[in-house]
Amino acid sequence: MKVLVTGGTGYIGSHTVVELLKSGHEVIVFDNLYNSKIETLDKIKEITGKEVKFYKADMLCPEEMEPIFKENDIDCVIHFAGLKAVGESVQKPLTYYENNIAGTINLVKLMKEYNVKKIIFSSSATVYGDPAFIPITEECPKGVCTNPYGWTKHMLEQILSDLYTADKEWSVVLLRYFNPIGADESGLIGESPNGIPNNLMPYIMQVAIGKLPELGVFGNDYDTPDGTGVRDYIHVTDLAKGHLCAVDKVMSTEGVNIYNLGTGIGYSVLDIVHAFEKANDLTIPYSIKPRRAGDIATCYSDASKALKELGWKAEYDLERMCKDSWRFAKMTLANE
Ligand code: NAD
Ligand code: WQD
Repeated sequence: MKVLVTGGTGYIGSHTVVELLKSGHEVIVFDNLYNSKIETLDKIKEITGKEVKFYKADMLCPEEMEPIFKENDIDCVIHFAGLKAVGESVQKPLTYYENNIAGTINLVKLMKEYNVKKIIFSSSATVYGDPAFIPITEECPKGVCTNPYGWTKHMLEQILSDLYTADKEWSVVLLRYFNPIGADESGLIGESPNGIPNNLMPYIMQVAIGKLPELGVFGNDYDTPDGTGVRDYIHVTDLAKGHLCAVDKVMSTEGVNIYNLGTGIGYSVLDIVHAFEKANDLTIPYSIKPRRAGDIATCYSDASKALKELGWKAEYDLERMCKDSWRFAKMTLANE
């Protein structure tokens, strides 16, 4: 297949490009490089031995995206591009609504114009809000999001679903990711956020390489086994492979299909700290801090629908996630 990957130099996008290339797909990437680096393309080539066709383009500028559709006979789009910093979205709601929503509308308008009506969209477990039940199935009602970022995912799911309601030629796959961590086993690509990280594993990696002194654990009085927040951490390579299955799905059906991509296992913050220490034989200093606004106690998936309908299931365990994160941190983050 000829697959257009938006946001393909970003964290999840780059891992997905690697898996697409490994399984023989032809890949076209566009990104505005706001939160990623052009060098990622060289790393992808080093890992796979294959080239991707790259366009520097911004979703907010249709004239930058149009040549991509003019010059390539695209079969389907995997749409990762977007802003994703939860806290920043509270400070800059308009930036988030404009980039993520207006940008996606520009994209799907062009898709429609060029008769490319198959899209896989990066949604998030955040659409469940404080989930009505655990483990979370796709039937769990969407909840109240606590930040504009989450609302962009909530709204974009609706917008993409409405496309199909209006025109039955569309095929839309909404993938709700849980908490992606880890890195490609090469150690060449991974997550490298700008500034002080907000997410748990990137923060732990900064502590491990000595750039930050200790981890703050946000609350130990939740109703969870050890009092710290419980999440469903999934290896980014497993997540990337889920997109390969989603490509088969989106190409073979019409309609709107929704899948949770998680492991189905919940780990607490302290489970992650201790697993990272054990897997990599080091110590992560931490102290307990107040709860972070907007956090929920527990969030983990029931991912059985993806197994049944996509034939996909996460394979890598927590030890592997911690080892691969650390390899990337040592090889790449430590030199930045
Ligand atoms: P990322 O920031 O690493 O990648 C997103 C890419 O999109 C970046 O390379 C950025 O430069 C690009 N981009 C942003 N705005 C753009 C625009 N206007 N035009 C062109 N490119 C633009 O993020 P990621 O972690 O790889 O996430 C990928 C997708 O998955 C995002 O939509 C994110 O919201 C979603 N998601 C991420 C997580 C997570 O925890 N990482 C969880 C659930 C969903
Ligand atoms: C995980 C756990 C924190 C940092 C976010 C987004 C969500 C999705 C994935 C995109 C929580 C605790 C964290 C720290 C800590 N992204 N923590 N100290 O909040 O589950 O999900 O990323 O869609 O939308 O909200 O992930 O990694 O920030 O936090 O104690 O320095 O780690 O309280 O329990 P979260 P996270």
